[in-house]
Amino acid sequence: MIIALLVLGFWMTDRAGANLWDELTNTLYSWHKLIGFLVLLVTAMRIVVKLLNKRPDYPSSISTGQIQLAHVVQSAMYLLLVLVPLFGWAGVTAYPALITVGGLHLPALPGVPKGEPLAKQLFEIHGYLVLALIAVAIAHIGAGLNHLWIKKDQVFDRIWFKSK
Ligand code: HEM
Repeated sequence: MIIALLVLGFWMTDRAGANLWDELTNTLYSWHKLIGFLVLLVTAMRIVVKLLNKRPDYPSSISTGQIQLAHVVQSAMYLLLVLVPLFGWAGVTAYPALITVGGLHLPALPGVPKGEPLAKQLFEIHGYLVLALIAVAIAHIGAGLNHLWIKKDQVFDRIWFKSK
């Protein structure tokens, strides 16, 4: 979903920047808003599941410092997975542009006043937070693959399906 949102997000803003306001651009925006909103819901569910379950243990070869670093990166990722869609939703509430795929309207984010200048500021923050999310996700994926291919320890197994 995140990869789809990145493709849709950069593609649609590119077309908007070129003043191409046709059906394709509107469709890209509609899908971006709907999938982005679903990411917020899925992230909320994921956080509940995470809080209700014990995390798997790290292998004993992993130092406390490495575990702390992993926690910082993972917490940043969760925070951004909430903030990125929240700012997008706040932006479309302020604009207002809540219509998505098939005419389905998103609910307005409570407490957000209407106004185009405010919406533009919220979208700008949305864009910066996306860049931070990309950076943190790359660090996370890089660390995971380092454990899988270079260190060859059991860390990757903690986040992958259990082998039979
Ligand atoms: C994790 C979820 C999301 C990701 C990864 C994401 C990603 C992106 C990206 C990459 C862009 C282009 C940024 C740029 O060119 O500056 C963008 C723009 C935008 N996003 Fe999202 N987005 C997410 C969630 C949402 C949600 C939930 C909404 C609204 C309900 C939304 C509404 C928008 C809008 C309206 C723009 C265009 C802003 C403008 O025209 O300046 N996004 N998003």
